[in-house]
Amino acid sequence: MSLSSYEPEIGIVIESSPQDILVEIESVQKFETYKNHLQVGKYLRIANGPSQFIIVNIEKISSNYILDENNQRVLKFLISTQPVGTIDEEHTFERGNTTLPIPTEKVYIVTKDTLEAIFSPGQKFSFPFGKLAQSKDIELNIDADSFFGKHIAVVGSTGSGKSCTVARMLQQVMGLKNGKNNYKDMQRNSHIIIFDLHSEYTAAFDLEDDQKFGLNLLNESNLILPYWLMNADELEAMFIEGKDTNVHNQRSQFRQAVIQNKEKHNPQVEEVTYDTPIYFNLDEVKNFITNLNNEVIGKLEWEDKPKLENGTLVMDRNVYFDKIYAFAHTSDDPGTRAVPGPFYGDFDKFLLNLETRTADKRLKFLFNPSEANKPYTSLDFKRIMKQFLGYNNYSNITIVDLSGIPFEVLTITVSLVSRLVFDFCFHLTKLQHYRELLNEVPVLIVCEEAHNYAPRNDDDRYKASKNSLEKIVKEGRKYGLSIMVVSQRPSEVSETIFAQCNNFIALRLTNINDQEYIKNLMSDISSSIADVLPNLAPGEFMITGDAVLLPCVARVDKPFPEPTSQSVKFLQEWNKEWREVDFDNVINRWRKEKLNLDDVNTEETLK
Ligand SMILES: Nc1ncnc2c1ncn2[C@@H]1O[C@H](COP(=O)(O)OP(=O)(O)OP(=O)(O)O)[C@@H](O)[C@H]1O
Ligand SMILES: [Mg+2]
Repeated sequence: MSLSSYEPEIGIVIESSPQDILVEIESVQKFETYKNHLQVGKYLRIANGPSQFIIVNIEKISSNYILDENNQRVLKFLISTQPVGTIDEEHTFERGNTTLPIPTEKVYIVTKDTLEAIFSPGQKFSFPFGKLAQSKDIELNIDADSFFGKHIAVVGSTGSGKSCTVARMLQQVMGLKNGKNNYKDMQRNSHIIIFDLHSEYTAAFDLEDDQKFGLNLLNESNLILPYWLMNADELEAMFIEGKDTNVHNQRSQFRQAVIQNKEKHNPQVEEVTYDTPIYFNLDEVKNFITNLNNEVIGKLEWEDKPKLENGTLVMDRNVYFDKIYAFAHTSDDPGTRAVPGPFYGDFDKFLLNLETRTADKRLKFLFNPSEANKPYTSLDFKRIMKQFLGYNNYSNITIVDLSGIPFEVLTITVSLVSRLVFDFCFHLTKLQHYRELLNEVPVLIVCEEAHNYAPRNDDDRYKASKNSLEKIVKEGRKYGLSIMVVSQRPSEVSETIFAQCNNFIALRLTNINDQEYIKNLMSDISSSIADVLPNLAPGEFMITGDAVLLPCVARVDKPFPEPTSQSVKFLQEWNKEWREVDFDNVINRWRKEKLNLDDVNTEETLK
């Protein structure tokens, strides 16, 4: 059956330009009959010569009164459309088109059969990703290699369904359906890391033991992340306040001390830099800086060296690592002349910061990481890397639960983990290149609520995490590392990150600034189609980018199990009888004290 014979004709083209193909609907009756098919976002088919058709997207519908041949006022409907691709009699669809229809060409509505032909799984577009909103039984298939291989943005106001959509998408990738693991007899090679701010994703991947699905859950109590893995940006973001007057001295001396201390503890490493991921001892560095801060220089003849209280001259400052020394007193007296050292008093604030941070019990996972009272050293680096990639326990998904990590170090944690994974993928890829292979262990990092650690503003506190994530979006693709950025405030996330995303999923967006921002980023959709953004239902999204054949509105089913992000039914709860609250246990959990619960696994609730 030819395409034209089963899809009704509804009008003709009256104007044609690359920006806009204007269609006039034949009559009011035709409009009424087919008005379900004539809505913004839906498709039409336009003849383009004898056997080819152009598929266009409806952007705007307008009407006005004209006078007919009997001088009667009649309504005329005009539809503005945009070409999206061509389809031939054999139902072969191609995105984009080179020719435009001429005025008077016939226009047809598009029914399920043509939509099926357009969206049918092809070689490339074969990963089922929900159903089209336009026709609920047509599957949207995407090119998953392109989707996951470049970077992805998922945006939408709070409660629009981002976490559920992401969870569902990942469940599908990993072959999880209705709580069952389709691949329980085979350990698959997917590697996904989720930065989970609200501890909500665990529920979506925590399957029964018999499903043999490995979930790697890292939180503040088991995350191994020793401070010596931090690079320059991270260390400085942690200890140095950008607004201090002598910030330059703080940076340079701290840097020097860290490098020297790394050399001291790792004599086998030939070229040590500030960023080399090897052990250094922070207490020793603290001693070093304290000594510099207190240093007094003897100024008697031949001295001109740091001088201790007992009169000893310090010939090599490397001893400053060993302990805090008492220095000679400053004096103008010709017999004891001694002057303050070059950094005297410069590091008071810095040392206070260092002291406060390292003594903070909440930061134990960074500053006192140890096992059986033995601190982690350079020898543990392999194990540390394996934990992020699920290699310690054969897990396809690693959830870094950030809910218990203090806000001040959230950015450092994100920065450290993402940078280490980037560096790992970089070196693995380079190694593979020697064998003329690519990275065979591609990794996806999901950044939930990214506006919290990769904001658009230039605040020093976010510099480290922003730099790490921006580096991944700029260079990660080549090394088999991509990012999925999830945010309810896209206009507040680093522009560099969004600008590098190749595929966009926009759920309901109510904020005008965010809508405008997203419209500008989704270059391949017209602004009138983007006008649907504030009206999407939960779980409904507009998807665009090179992984979809056509930008379109679609929806996925809710994931099962769901992440623990469900909306509370306020009125339903308020209408019930007064409920008692277990204040004691709420407070116990808050204080991380033991819970007294009979009905719940207390270990679980403390997570
Ligand atoms: N596909 C869907 N169909 C029906 N309901 C859905 C769907 N996806 C999500 N929901 C519902 O919408 C609510 C919010 O979902 P979700 O937590 O995913 O939103 P969110 O966009 O991540 O919000 P936030 O920005 O606050 O994290 C939940 O109650 C969920 O059950
Ligand atoms: Mg969410």
